[in-house]
Amino acid sequence: MGTAGLTGLGSVAVHTYATHQSQPSMTAHQSTEANATGGEADRFPDYDDLPDGQFYDPDAEYEPDPEYAATIAPDAARQRRERIGPTGRPLPYFPIPGPLVERGPAQIIAMCNQKGGVGKTTSTINLGAALAEYGRRVLLVDFDPQGALSVGLGVNPMELDLTIYNLLMERGMAPDEVLLKTAVAGMDLLPSNIDLSAAEVQLVSEVARESTLQRALQPMLNDYDFVIIDCQPSLGLLTVNALTAAHKVIVPLECEFFALRGVALLTETIEKVQERLNPNLHLDGILATMYDSRTVHSREVLARVVEAFDDNVYHTVIGRTVRFPETTVAGEPITTYASNSVGAAAYRQLAREVLARCHAE
Ligand SMILES: Nc1ncnc2c1ncn2[C@@H]1O[C@H](COP(=O)(O)OP(=O)(O)OP(=O)(O)O)[C@@H](O)[C@H]1O
Ligand SMILES: [Mg+2]
Repeated sequence: MGTAGLTGLGSVAVHTYATHQSQPSMTAHQSTEANATGGEADRFPDYDDLPDGQFYDPDAEYEPDPEYAATIAPDAARQRRERIGPTGRPLPYFPIPGPLVERGPAQIIAMCNQKGGVGKTTSTINLGAALAEYGRRVLLVDFDPQGALSVGLGVNPMELDLTIYNLLMERGMAPDEVLLKTAVAGMDLLPSNIDLSAAEVQLVSEVARESTLQRALQPMLNDYDFVIIDCQPSLGLLTVNALTAAHKVIVPLECEFFALRGVALLTETIEKVQERLNPNLHLDGILATMYDSRTVHSREVLARVVEAFDDNVYHTVIGRTVRFPETTVAGEPITTYASNSVGAAAYRQLAREVLARCHAE
């Protein structure tokens, strides 16, 4: 696919470039029909939808539309030449992950921000599903008594007898009794419901109360490559348990005015847990979510986040699209609900970036 004659992809948050097209272009999520289009079908008029049968190939080069280009660099040609990504920094190439040669104990990621509605649950589901598409075995842990992660995967938390609460509080409870398979191959779920709110109170009087989740997860780690914990919007004992169990933290930040408020408190909490409970913990990255490149506001917030956190900000940025609320209603990840959407491509790109960071360690 050449550069000339391509039209814009709307406000696409994910771009990679043609120099990498020598890489194998078929990925786990590509269907064969996806390659059968061309010409007019190369036109992508809308952020949300690609034409039927067309696949957004993150390895192909798309010329950003002038409006989008202006949001990330004043000069589109320079942007292409220097490969500037949506965060305004040069965009590295994140290779398509190959099959795992060695299955080790799982990397545990806590998806954490005490601010509500920033995209923690959405990112847990979709990063998990994208990693599973790339052949990784994934366990998602719903660690919010609201059970939004469980709902987002089509489970009704009210109907559950056994949840993560039982695994935490009842000695001798086998993980298998609580584990649920999701519709995504290779991705399992430890569900939760309102029972978990009682754990926060009951744990206070427990010995080693901060490491209860770590102990509960321990026997399952060899069965997975990644465990992702969806935290509740608070810095209470449940979140401290998640941080104590985790190797790394991902902090989703909504690109809106008060995004950075409270982040200092969060990083302070992460540092305290690091010092006192879990020296292995580190911040893997800040994930900008609900980005809308058409608004000056979104761009300014993203610029400020990059200014403040520099290399700790993922190059991948998740755009704002109504497709995400739709997936919650559908009870499935965007990677299956709207596999060709740019939102799905963004989470695949994030999975590749997370894997690239793992390999760089
Ligand atoms: N990129 C996005 N574009 C548009 N809407 C989004 C996006 N990401 C998430 N949403 C929507 O925003 C709402 C909040 O997202 P989500 O539940 O993932 O946040 P959260 O941080 O887990 O919230 P809470 O703190 O309440 O647990 C949901 O309705 C979700 O569908
Ligand atoms: Mg949530």
